[in-house]
Amino acid sequence: MTEITFLLNGETVRVAAEPTHTLLDWLREDRGLTGTKEGCNEGDCGACTVVVTDDLGVKALNACILFLPQLHGKAVRTVEGFKGPKGEMHPVQQAMIDHHGSQCGFCTPGFISSMIAGHQQGRSDHDVVLAGNLCRCTGYAPIIRAAEAAEAAESPSWVGDDSAEVPAAPLAFAPETEDELAAWVEANPDATLIAGATDVGLWVTKQMRDLKKVAFLNRCADLREIAIGTDSIRIGAGVTMTQLRELLGVYHPSYAEMVRRYASEQVRNAATIGGNIANGSPIGDNPPALIALGATLHLRKGAARRDLPIEDFFLDYGKQDRQPGEFVSGVTIPKSAPALRVYKLSKRFDQDISAVLGAFNVTIESGKVASARIAFGGMAGIPKRAAHVEAALVGKPWSEATVEAVIGGFPKDFQPMTDMRGSAAYRLEAAQNMLRRYFADLSGSAVNVLEVHA
Ligand SMILES: Cc1cc2nc3c(=O)[nH]c(=O)nc-3n(C[C@H](O)[C@H](O)[C@H](O)COP(=O)(O)OP(=O)(O)OC[C@H]3O[C@@H](n4cnc5c(N)ncnc54)[C@H](O)[C@@H]3O)c2cc1C
Ligand code: FES
Ligand code: FES
Repeated sequence: MTEITFLLNGETVRVAAEPTHTLLDWLREDRGLTGTKEGCNEGDCGACTVVVTDDLGVKALNACILFLPQLHGKAVRTVEGFKGPKGEMHPVQQAMIDHHGSQCGFCTPGFISSMIAGHQQGRSDHDVVLAGNLCRCTGYAPIIRAAEAAEAAESPSWVGDDSAEVPAAPLAFAPETEDELAAWVEANPDATLIAGATDVGLWVTKQMRDLKKVAFLNRCADLREIAIGTDSIRIGAGVTMTQLRELLGVYHPSYAEMVRRYASEQVRNAATIGGNIANGSPIGDNPPALIALGATLHLRKGAARRDLPIEDFFLDYGKQDRQPGEFVSGVTIPKSAPALRVYKLSKRFDQDISAVLGAFNVTIESGKVASARIAFGGMAGIPKRAAHVEAALVGKPWSEATVEAVIGGFPKDFQPMTDMRGSAAYRLEAAQNMLRRYFADLSGSAVNVLEVHA
């Protein structure tokens, strides 16, 4: 047992906890704070949303897949902690009453937490802020109206207290620098690394796995660094999807738009780029985009570092080029790739796993294809390049006729599977249509599904 320190609703707490004890279980079962609800227990519904403040600011997180050590040195506020010293309501709570934003009330504490985090951040993109909160009875319009109505209200002083520094002693299993992490992981190659826990959390809450030995990466400050160079950007493995979206908004807007549809606000605030690469999932959203960009992956084992083209990391389904004791330290992408486009296809627009994700980066010189990097997720057991289609494109005129001539090459590159997200035939057709969409996109046609014109 290890002692973890954090602020809970303004009061310092010291908890002796198992490393994989979730905040939700602890709040409800150990503290009797039952305002925070359990719906899905896997990060999907937002009923368990709490507000966490740390060096990156205020954010909404799902308590059900948040392990207590991830809170060490931070501040947490639950729905019980939003009222003022005299019982006053937060303006967001008052707005929810005024606009009839709650019926059965089960989802309401989670909505209020997301709305308060958004309010603190000065957000007005309420659809994005609330995409990770599900409501079965009220309907979303009154909730959005409440969020809009509260926008201009001043944030009450009592929720601002959370930015105070919380002294936190070092934890043996939470290294504070990449060097410390490298030594720890090399000495403990059998340990499970936990970054944002948006995958690992589910191993505990859904698969009931008992993780014997773990290391937390979120306290390694240098693993969270973003270094912007002249031509390239090095992104530390601990950079979250929220930070990534902000960065990509400046350099790679199409990729950033895809990240907006990656899970939900709460999950993006926790999930890291390192975790999304290291898990090797064939439906992870970042790897195809990084492959299309020609990214370089950085791995580290003890003092030894090695770099490889990111596509070489994915060897086979569930198998990556990573040695025991080695970890992902970061990834480097080019700063500029104006032809990069990333298309995510999923059944639900927000917060859904991709059925197919296509990333395209074709450069054209004097009307001909000079180079082509095209990668897909959801089409094979690993994120993979469309090697035949790429080869067929290079040297050809960049025209609709060329596109129609090469799309027949997709079945040589991919034999996708049929599952609940799509049949093999659907996936192949979707991939072909994405190349058509890419041609239309680069030709200046409107292809954004949010901008459908009659
Ligand atoms: C509700 C929900 C929605 C989701 N939606 C999407 C989505 O739209 N798109 C998508 O791609 N994914 C999605 N995911 C999956 C998940 O968010 C990602 O895979 C995420 O990027 C994992 O990152 P993490 O930091 O949370 O990793 P963790 O859960 O902490 O770790 C994941 C794996 O990577 C390993 N690991 C972590 N960091 C490192 C490192 N630096 N070096 C070596 N190994 C490491 C861990 O040991 C573990 O095996 C979703 C998950 C949830 C719960
Ligand atoms: S209980 Fe559904 S997201 Fe946590
Ligand atoms: S008010 Fe009933 S689930 Fe939202």
